[in-house]
Amino acid sequence: MATLRKAHTGSPYIPLTSEMTIFFPGTDGGAQWGGSAVDPEGVIYIPAKQNPCFSSLVMKEQPAGKASVTGAQLYSLRCAACHGADRRGNHDGSYPSLLGLETRLSTDAVHQVLLKGRGMMPSFSHLPEAERNAIVDFLFNKGKGTQTVSAQKAGLPYQHTGYNRWYDSNGYPVSAPPWGTLTAIDLNTGEHRWQVPLGEYKELTVKGVPATGTDNYGGPLVTGSGLLFIAASKDGQFRAIDKKTGKVLWQVQLPAAGYASPSTYSVEGKQYVVIACGGGKLNTKSGDKYVAFALPTIP
Ligand code: HEC
Repeated sequence: MATLRKAHTGSPYIPLTSEMTIFFPGTDGGAQWGGSAVDPEGVIYIPAKQNPCFSSLVMKEQPAGKASVTGAQLYSLRCAACHGADRRGNHDGSYPSLLGLETRLSTDAVHQVLLKGRGMMPSFSHLPEAERNAIVDFLFNKGKGTQTVSAQKAGLPYQHTGYNRWYDSNGYPVSAPPWGTLTAIDLNTGEHRWQVPLGEYKELTVKGVPATGTDNYGGPLVTGSGLLFIAASKDGQFRAIDKKTGKVLWQVQLPAAGYASPSTYSVEGKQYVVIACGGGKLNTKSGDKYVAFALPTIP
C-alpha cells in the first residue's frame, strides 16, 4: 500500500519520471501481445493479461568525452534496458541477472553470448571488439571505470529501469484476479459474448480457489467447426475451447509452456494443430519442441 501511495498512477499514458510509475494493465498488455482470432461471423477471440508493472527513469551514464567511454557506460548504453541498471535482471526472470557472472561463466562464454546472441537476446557482434572487451571487463569487475575505448555518443540521456512486474511476496500479481483472460467480443455489436480465466495455478486450484487465469503470451486459433485452440498460459496447458461458450472441452500438458499462437494444416485429409513450446519466459522452464495434434475426423 505504501508503495502504491508513493507511486505515480492515474490516467493512461502518464509520462515516466524518476519516481516509480505503475501501469495497469502492464507494459505487455492488456491484449497487446498475444494476438487474436476472428471468425466469419465477426466474433473476435482475444487473450489478455491483467498484471501490474512498474518502471522509472534513471540518468544514463554519459561518456566523458566523445572519444572515450568506460565499460560501465557501455553497459548502461547497450545492456541495461534488459538486464537492469543495477544488473539484477527483471523480477520474472525473462532477463537474467548479470551479478556474480564470474562465479558461473567464463569470459569466453560471455563473449560467445555477445557474438551470437541467445534466445531473446540479440547479438552484439556489430560492436567493436574493444567495446565488447570493456563491457566484459566491467561485468567481471575488472578495470571498472578505467577501461576506455572509442565509442559512439550515448543518444538519449535517460533510460528506464525495465519492464518490471509487480508481484506480492508469494509471487502472484498484486492485483485481484483474474490475471489472465480470454474474451469473445462480437464486433458487430461491440458486446462481450463471454469472458473466462485463461490458465490456473494448480496450487491455488487444489485449495479451492476458482481459476485465476495467468500471465500469458500467445494467441488463439479458431476452426471452422467452432473450436478455439490456445496455449499461451503460464501453466503450460494447451486447451480446446468451445467458441460459443468459452468452456474448456479438452486440455493437455505441453513439454514447456506454449508462448506462441498455434497453427493448423492438413495432410491427406487429416487436420492438425501445432504449437511451439519454447517456455522460458515468466520463470517457467525452457523447451525446444513443436507438438502437433491430429483432430478427430467427424464421420
Ligand atoms: C533485448 C534485451 C537484451 C539486451 C539489450 C541484452 N541482453 Fe543479455 N540476455 C537477454 C536475455 C533474454 C537473456 C537470456 C537468454 C536465454 O538464455 O534464453 C540474456 C542473457 C545474457 C547472458 C547470459 C547470462 C547467463 O546467466 O547465462 C549474458 C552474459 C548477457 N545476456 C550479457 C549481455 C550484455 C553484456 C549485454 C549488452 C552488451 C546484453 N546482454 C544485452 C536479453 C538482453
